[in-house]
Amino acid sequence: MNNENKRRNFLKQCGLTAVPLMIPGIGMSALPFETGAKNQPTNNPTAVNFIFDGLSLDPKQYLEKLTTISNIHPIEPDFYGNGGATKALEEEFARLTGKEKAIYLPTGTMANQLAIKLLNGTNTKAMVPENSHVFRDEADAAQSVHGKRLIPVGNGQSTFSLEDLKTKISYLEHEEVFKSGLGTVVIENPVRRADGRIVPIEAIKEIASYCKQQGYKMHLDGARLHIAAAYTGVSIAEYAAQFDTVYISLYKYLNASGGAILCGDAAVIDQVSHQVKILGGTVFQSWNQTAMALHYLKGIEERWQQVIKSTQSLITELNTIDGVNISSLDKGTNIYDLRLREDINLKDLAMYLYNEHNIWLGRANDQGIVKFTVNESLLTRNLNDIVNAWKKGVKSVRKEG
Ligand SMILES: Cc1ncc(COP(=O)(O)O)c(C=O)c1O
Repeated sequence: MNNENKRRNFLKQCGLTAVPLMIPGIGMSALPFETGAKNQPTNNPTAVNFIFDGLSLDPKQYLEKLTTISNIHPIEPDFYGNGGATKALEEEFARLTGKEKAIYLPTGTMANQLAIKLLNGTNTKAMVPENSHVFRDEADAAQSVHGKRLIPVGNGQSTFSLEDLKTKISYLEHEEVFKSGLGTVVIENPVRRADGRIVPIEAIKEIASYCKQQGYKMHLDGARLHIAAAYTGVSIAEYAAQFDTVYISLYKYLNASGGAILCGDAAVIDQVSHQVKILGGTVFQSWNQTAMALHYLKGIEERWQQVIKSTQSLITELNTIDGVNISSLDKGTNIYDLRLREDINLKDLAMYLYNEHNIWLGRANDQGIVKFTVNESLLTRNLNDIVNAWKKGVKSVRKEG
């Protein structure tokens, strides 16, 4: 592929040619740059991206990876989700979360919505974090499709406390005349709209124990739960134990092209496939996603410990470059704040890193901060090479004052 095509591919892959500023739920800072690429060759076919959750494999890389996986151990197809790689992944997730069962769904949105619907039963209300995907990014599906009313808690915060929850429940009890039941309380962890900050396990346990006493069910939007586990040392099973159902994404950190898994008691999970069918979400075969997720699930804990370790060295080194400042966030995970001094033009640096070294850097937000995101792509390159690329890049784009 020539470099202009490669650049177009990069842009297309990031959805930038069609919808440059409109990707729902992803801030501007998560987007790469789209203009000004030079046609310089790079010797690094695998991108190190500081933008996305995962490796962001392009179609060719995805197909090659599936072929490699299949050569090691032939991938077995599923039939409408039954058998093959999909069943194997479901069993693996049930084991990992300590739940009775797990089921593949085509999207996390559907997993969240069906979990709320099924846990709620005839209750009409569910409490959700105001800053959550469930509340803000699922197109009012609960209200318009499932007849459930989502009530936001913890407005303007990354999550909510037990006190916030109790206050909201008490408000409804006292200020609404026609009572209808509260069925489910939802927590998202880590919180995507709060730059991947975690909800402390102590806070989750407090809320879970109260909900148990009151008879409310609990659902975890754990799209990125592996990251929370990697950065806190709290296992997936310990998180999952606080909830009735847990959803984990197959594409955020497991590099599949899409898909979700929902785990919980058999009594709930056994109702899911019928619900998915009603919504038209039953896909003929999902092995192309589940085989990939299964592959990346193996060894994920070790790889992330390596990413965390490498990140520490990388950031220490990058912070020695005059004018570069990368800082971690309070309760943060794999997203850092990158600030460049005025004499270093971000766009020029990003284009240099992309063109010369296949290193991807995102845009700044309106405060001039780049949400510098680390992921497994860091492990595909020698750390010194990344640091040297940055040093050369900063030198070549720095404006002499
Ligand atoms: C926290 C969170 N929950 C749920 C979803 C929904 O996932 P899907 O795109 O598979 O519907 C996302 C996707 O961005 C997410 O970030």
